[in-house]
Amino acid sequence: MNQKTPKSALITGASNGIGKALAEEFAAAGHTVIVSARSEAKLQALASQWRQQYGVAVHVLPSDLSQPGAALALAREVKALGLEIDFLVNNAGVGLFGEFEHNDGEAEVAMMRLNMESLVLLTREFLPVLKARQGRIMNVASTAAFQPGPYMAVYYATKAFVLSFSEAIAEELSGSGVKVTALCPGPTASGFQDLASMQDSSLVKGKRLPTSEAVAKAGFRAMQRGQRVYIPGVMNRLMAWSVRFTPRRVVTAMVRYLSRPVAA
Ligand SMILES: NC(=O)c1ccc[n+]([C@@H]2O[C@H](COP(=O)([O-])OP(=O)(O)OC[C@H]3O[C@@H](n4cnc5c(N)ncnc54)[C@H](OP(=O)(O)O)[C@@H]3O)[C@@H](O)[C@H]2O)c1
Repeated sequence: MNQKTPKSALITGASNGIGKALAEEFAAAGHTVIVSARSEAKLQALASQWRQQYGVAVHVLPSDLSQPGAALALAREVKALGLEIDFLVNNAGVGLFGEFEHNDGEAEVAMMRLNMESLVLLTREFLPVLKARQGRIMNVASTAAFQPGPYMAVYYATKAFVLSFSEAIAEELSGSGVKVTALCPGPTASGFQDLASMQDSSLVKGKRLPTSEAVAKAGFRAMQRGQRVYIPGVMNRLMAWSVRFTPRRVVTAMVRYLSRPVAA
């Protein structure tokens, strides 16, 4: 694709972290950007900054994608702007740390709607236009997609779904001109850990994590290359690769150990 021609991108979860950094990549490349998340004020502030800094059009469409009907309503609002998108970035997602037995069931259902259902519905809604325009889809999965995740059982399962779904449709769409990339970051500095209540998990506690900007930059390039699965970071790639050769039960026990809550 010629990155010099202005094209349009819809990015969900663009008010913070990886999604915000991804949206800025599109704006910096001169594309029209449609940003969505729940925090309208944050999105408006970013929009004015990027309009000024990059001279691009930025549209703000607030939405709570964990609500039934929200994804289809967002798709309708995008179409009402009169824009045809070339890039769909399904990034919005949340996690929830804790033993399944004690986690809030409603919060887990909302997470499943956000991480999986809305992603699938937006993909379906925009597929015709993406096919017509030879566009790109980026679905943000995680290294969590490659194995079960004790203490974040539902979250890991949602990301396994995102990876499997993305690879499957990438194959169905081969030859159509549409490329699908599953971006699979490892633990990354963002608002994610606080929201997921996982500050005490050994996975992140006291660790120096890569920035959202670094992950987004590498992911953006992978999407431009049309890479199907992209895992930022050599160690993350090694981990994702090594679990293929280790008994699943052993891997699951290792994740439990690595994710365990650690005292202050
Ligand atoms: N950070 C990590 O360690 C990590 C690792 C692997 C994968 N990921 C994945 O990366 C993606 C982005 O996460 P992040 O790390 O950048 O976290 P983040 O800083 O918490 O950002 C999450 C984004 O999603 C939006 N969001 C949350 N709930 C939403 C809802 N109900 N409806 C619409 N938007 C919602 C948030 O905006 P509002 O609050 O304004 O709605 C925010 O813009 C997620 O899919 C996550 O699973 C993160």
